[in-house]
Amino acid sequence: MALTSLGDEEIQSLGERGWFTRASFLGEADARAVHAEAKARAEAGLLRPAGIRRGADHTLDRDTRGDFISWVTPEEQGSAIARLREAFAALGETLSAEAYLGLGRFDLQLAWYPGEGARYARHFDAFPGQSNRRVTAIYYLNPDWVPAHGGLLRLYPEGGAVDVAPTLDRLVVFLSERIEHEVLPAQGSRLALTAWYYGRGAG
Ligand code: OGA
Ligand code: MN
Repeated sequence: MALTSLGDEEIQSLGERGWFTRASFLGEADARAVHAEAKARAEAGLLRPAGIRRGADHTLDRDTRGDFISWVTPEEQGSAIARLREAFAALGETLSAEAYLGLGRFDLQLAWYPGEGARYARHFDAFPGQSNRRVTAIYYLNPDWVPAHGGLLRLYPEGGAVDVAPTLDRLVVFLSERIEHEVLPAQGSRLALTAWYYGRGAG
């Protein structure tokens, strides 16, 4: 089970810099179980090309966003991915209690970058002032990752860019309205599960 309480440095980093990362969230055994399920879903063709929003349109632009996705709903039970969903629920409660973020429900998405340079161009997950996504939490599932695989998460906090390697069991948490970010071109297969937490009272 995940250690969902936050360390002082994590709370401080989130408040001051707008993000933090933790090298191990569930522990290796659970991480491998989640990885095996995620990989099986990608290989079974259960994921679909991610779209991007341009105004009111939903369009496909593989140069801007090259991943394949599926949603993980609360109805799913019994799988390692469902247990991860519970760990994300507990993380949201902890962020509310310890970092005063007032978070409500969250969406959870499985994303697979097939390699061959698939990327996600620089973007925000939310725009300031709208009552939408407040916190992004990403859990990485790449047990054999080496630098040649690429697919780094590049964050753009004030003060300069930071790169995060998408290694197995790593968690990264950032404020959706404040931290612009991108996925650098991935040369190897890259799997992650992302939770977006909404403010309390959001529909
Ligand atoms: C996203 C995103 C980053 C990552 O899906 O919005 O920015 O590291 N993902 O997978
Ligand atoms: Mn994003």
